[in-house]
Amino acid sequence: MESNSKKHRSWAEPYKMKMVELIRMTDPAYREEAIKAAGYNTFLLKSEDVYIDLLTDSGTSAMSDVQWAGMMMGDEAYAGSRNFYHLEAVIQKYYGYKHVVPTHQGRGAENIVSKIMIKPGDIIPGNMYFTTTRLHQELAGGIFKDVIIDEAHDSLNLFPFKGNIDMNKLQKLVDTYGASKIPYVSVATSVNMAGGQPISIANLKELRAFTLKYGIKVIHDMTRVAENAWFIKMREKGYENKSVAEIVLEICNLTDGATMSAKKDALVNIGGFLALNDDELYEEASNMVVVYEGLHTYGGLAGRDMEAMAIGIVESVSDDHIRARIGQVEYLGHKLQDAGVPIVLPIGGHGIFVDAKRFLPHVPQTAFPAQALAAEIYLDSGVRSMERGIVSAGRNSETGDHNFPELELVRLTIPRRVYTQAHMDVVAESLAEVYANRENIRGLKMVFEPKYLRFFQAKFEKI
Ligand code: F0G
Repeated sequence: MESNSKKHRSWAEPYKMKMVELIRMTDPAYREEAIKAAGYNTFLLKSEDVYIDLLTDSGTSAMSDVQWAGMMMGDEAYAGSRNFYHLEAVIQKYYGYKHVVPTHQGRGAENIVSKIMIKPGDIIPGNMYFTTTRLHQELAGGIFKDVIIDEAHDSLNLFPFKGNIDMNKLQKLVDTYGASKIPYVSVATSVNMAGGQPISIANLKELRAFTLKYGIKVIHDMTRVAENAWFIKMREKGYENKSVAEIVLEICNLTDGATMSAKKDALVNIGGFLALNDDELYEEASNMVVVYEGLHTYGGLAGRDMEAMAIGIVESVSDDHIRARIGQVEYLGHKLQDAGVPIVLPIGGHGIFVDAKRFLPHVPQTAFPAQALAAEIYLDSGVRSMERGIVSAGRNSETGDHNFPELELVRLTIPRRVYTQAHMDVVAESLAEVYANRENIRGLKMVFEPKYLRFFQAKFEKI
């Protein structure tokens, strides 16, 4: 918390621009055709037809000049690339994990860790599901159980650590199934589907004590760990004067291993890794990666990609970087609040999550309100957002019914170091306009549904 005696100071970006990418504005008639052709699914729009792209913060961030220079230093050897050893050393130093297996992106690591740790019938508790993470757990024969605190499912609850695990829910799973059925707890920092909500150090410490008692491991989805660390610095007693880098290391030290999509926090366009402290598990993982990704010293990445990642990790844990990154997200959030647009609070780390249930109370969840809202935002301004509601939640793996998540959201995800405050103004104005005309929005019906991760490729028509 800022002390009252200190004057408010702005968070201006700790960088300046030396290259720009031109973007195209389109007219409403053009966008009407484009979104219809995309089956009202923003994933199926052409990037060229998008003005401000807030689909995701994944792989969309801007690299620094130092990262680009690092790409020229790629050692493109099949085995034992210099860049792998640099990456490994950086991960050991900044995240504290012992072993590193590079993967092409986060889900590559999720596949491997699920395959080596989960047996059919196992239970995997987690602080809210993530789409790809849960799918890999299920494909390995596991059953995901949500153990996040109830506050996380309530878009209006102001609890500062809505990413926390409810230890009673976890205890109940151990009592019901037995600890031997639970290979690990899947714990995410900056819980994506809850709106980028952080977990506290206090909760992680409780989890560590609990899992040590029962011999259960903790596997950390560290995709946005630095953003989580910033919220700990701002909100958790005793952490005000610690650096983001120190807090990141403390978080990682409370877990046994991690999957990382380096396309987010770590400021690269492609890349990820699996990190493990256990020697035997590492042995299995480094064998498994050969089957799915590539040799254990490149894991589906070019040497240059690993170099950019190593440099990006160091840049990502800088306090100045995170202050500006989250400052920009909060800037947009406050503008939307001023316009009366219902959003998930507290404002999260990587984007603003618009509450489609409160935005469109007249559209039932079976008519995909968040999907419909994302299409309307694109129609209004060419701003691309993403559905994070019933379409993303998919179907129950046992019954085949839709999962009906409490949260029905549209995510305005902010790429790192890409857009300006003026872009955020344009986005806020567009949302205000769509909100003023919300009564005209009807829902959608799904006309094509793929088997896996349906939100990526499903098609819709207007009702
Ligand atoms: N875990 C979290 C919390 C994520 O947000 C993602 C990806 C992954 C794992 C998978 O990583 O894409 O590199 O394979 N999230 C992206 C998003 C897709 O838009 O939120 P990946």
